[in-house]
Amino acid sequence: MSSSTLCRSSIARHFPPLSGTRTALFSLLLLSGCGGGGTAVTPVAAPPATITLSAAALLGQKIFSDTSLSASGQMACATCHNPANAHAQSNDLSVQLGGANQQIPGTRAVPSLRYLNLLPAFFFAKDGTPTAGFNRDGSAATLAGQARVPLLAAHEMANISAADLTARLAKAAYVEEFRQVFGSDILAAPEQAVERIGFALQQYQKEDHDFFPFDAKYDQFLAGKIALNSAELRGLALFNNPAKGNCAACHVSARGADGSAPLFTDFSYDNIGVPRNPAIPANADPAYFDLGLCGPIRNDLSSRSDLCGAFKVPTLRNVTTRKVFFHNGRFTNLRDVLGFYVRRDTNPEEWYPRAADGSIDKFDDLPAAYKKNVNTVEVPYNRLPGMAPALSAQEIDDVITFLGTLNDGYQINP
Ligand code: HEC
Ligand code: HEC
Repeated sequence: MSSSTLCRSSIARHFPPLSGTRTALFSLLLLSGCGGGGTAVTPVAAPPATITLSAAALLGQKIFSDTSLSASGQMACATCHNPANAHAQSNDLSVQLGGANQQIPGTRAVPSLRYLNLLPAFFFAKDGTPTAGFNRDGSAATLAGQARVPLLAAHEMANISAADLTARLAKAAYVEEFRQVFGSDILAAPEQAVERIGFALQQYQKEDHDFFPFDAKYDQFLAGKIALNSAELRGLALFNNPAKGNCAACHVSARGADGSAPLFTDFSYDNIGVPRNPAIPANADPAYFDLGLCGPIRNDLSSRSDLCGAFKVPTLRNVTTRKVFFHNGRFTNLRDVLGFYVRRDTNPEEWYPRAADGSIDKFDDLPAAYKKNVNTVEVPYNRLPGMAPALSAQEIDDVITFLGTLNDGYQINP
């Protein structure tokens, strides 16, 4: 958070010994402490190659790519969360178009659905750090509850009611299977049917290893199976170095104390002053601001003005496959993202427009009262004009090369 130099709370995964091919039970540990730089080699059990999905998860898999459940007949979860693109968008639009005519724009960029399977509901950590929850503002408590949102949102799959969605489900190819799993009269109770759709989608995302393969080059490096090349190692060192990138302070890169693999996020929230994106139609209204934790989509924290402008730290796994970056999709190129990180404060004129009086309108996507919430204390944001950026152009290239080791599906012997 803006004035915090405290350690950030972090969430670590913990694999108990795996038995059989059934869904492994995972437990969640909450650790506190600064993210950091260690790259200790501690082999852990690899997830099984095949896993048997529960009946609910198998239904969830079908629902995930079923476009017939949308008002347009053309949109499914997989349309925006494409499995071939790390379950994120495959186009470079800042926001997607949905609704019955596929013409209603959303207000946020599509996040990847990878590595969310153990995430708990939103909470405030002991030191007050907002943490976890689904969506970029933590507004959904569970994956099941989250799934309801796109199914019913006017700018997404646009069912007008639970009854409307249930009527579409009644015509789905797998409706008999749905009845077998959730009860022969389930469709007579639309609210419950929608809840079961959410549950099925949740189980699919929690059980199917496609959502958390942990088979990136970096995972194999941590397991001691391969080496990173010199540019990747330089990038990793810059990523971890608290005086250089300091990226690991929020995008955790080291194993947890229990040996759990790093997720490259601590699931905390921060306000980093991302520039306003004129490509989002809602932003045509100068009075409209997406303020993340404090609204307008989420409304239970609207009195916490200190949280206005804070968004969830996303995982950096698969980040080089992302088409747009940040909650508002303002950047389409990772080199620009890194340039923004290190030159936001040394060269604000590169990122922000000029106000009427000729001054730079720094942090232009926040109302004046909330600009002070932007993080200006932690490296790499703690600079002033005239100072050297935390990373040079060559160092940015090395960090990007390192980020390439975080893509799922790395073949040791292709
Ligand atoms: C029109 C594009 C679109 C469709 C269709 C869509 N989503 Fe999303 N999804 C988004 C966007 C945009 C967000 C970010 C929303 C926010 O932060 O408020 C999101 C967020 C999520 C998240 C939270 C991710 C996180 O980091 O916390 C999950 C889980 C999710 N979607 C699952 C689904 C499922 C399941 C479906 C199908 C029922 C679906 N989505 C359909 C665009 C879409
Ligand atoms: C103080 C916490 C913090 C630090 C330090 C930090 N980040 Fe981030 N990062 C965030 C937050 C918060 C977001 C999401 C902001 C938003 O959407 O508005 C983010 C988003 C990103 C994204 C966009 C990912 C996506 O899917 O859209 C990239 C890339 C990224 N960070 C890379 C880095 C790198 C590289 C460094 C080190 C130079 C770094 N970050 C340092 C908090 C941090």
